[in-house]
Amino acid sequence: MFRLILIIAFMAGTTAAQEPDFTLSSPVALVDSGFLGFVLPRFSLKTGVRAEILPDTEPADISLNTQSGVPVMQGLGQQYFMMVEGQNTAQPQNAQRFADWLVSEIGKRTIEQFTLDGAQVFTASRVEVQGVAPIIFEGDAKRGEALSFTNCGRCHVIDPRNPMSGIGSTPSFGLIRGLPDWDERFMTFYLRAPHPAITQIEGITDPFDPARPVSIFPLSITQTEMEDILTYVSTIKPVNLGAPLVEHQ
Ligand code: HEC
Repeated sequence: MFRLILIIAFMAGTTAAQEPDFTLSSPVALVDSGFLGFVLPRFSLKTGVRAEILPDTEPADISLNTQSGVPVMQGLGQQYFMMVEGQNTAQPQNAQRFADWLVSEIGKRTIEQFTLDGAQVFTASRVEVQGVAPIIFEGDAKRGEALSFTNCGRCHVIDPRNPMSGIGSTPSFGLIRGLPDWDERFMTFYLRAPHPAITQIEGITDPFDPARPVSIFPLSITQTEMEDILTYVSTIKPVNLGAPLVEHQ
């Protein structure tokens, strides 16, 4: 009986409407803690690649487990490893992409951003990883451009077409694009002030607290729209602040 309930709980957690791009098996503890529900949408936001979570008794493209593979993280009294199996999917590159991302610097930071009752739960394993593929955004840049103007352009200068709008002290998109970690900043913008109070991303942010007054212009976008924005921003010409900023790193 317990087993059945467990499987139903797993199935409820998957994206029923869409075919998954790869499958991931995981110990129950990682699902129950909310960790996978935290990490997977963030990965999907970046890549558009979606996972289905399976119980760890089932074969999957990637297994997170407590026995063997690449060390990923420690927490909840365990060391967790990752094994890429990959043979169960028609598109093994999707599983590989997640594997590369999870052990990349951004993946590690995402692992460590997960909290329970305000406390960090996992410490990412710091092992040398070779050949991590660069992230390529695959959204629709044209749509992303339009979305940037409508959603972000009232505060940010997006490009020379709105130089006089935007709020003076707010960095332009070109300026942020010129920073070495621009992608990280854009991916997490909804966590960085002043955005949290006005921003909702479907499936990622919690709903606004009904007890608190909400901006009269809330910014509400979907994960697909966010990926379109990231894709557009990746095409923006960076504004060069002058060589010293990057050269003396
Ligand atoms: C209400 C005004 C407002 C809106 C709307 C807004 N931003 Fe911002 N944004 C700001 C301000 C102000 C800063 C500078 C914050 C700082 O420097 O502390 C900022 C900074 C940023 C940064 C840099 C963060 C960092 O820490 O380096 C990114 C990335 C960003 N915004 C993305 C976006 C995106 C994407 C949108 C639209 C989907 C958007 N913003 C909409 C006001 C806004």
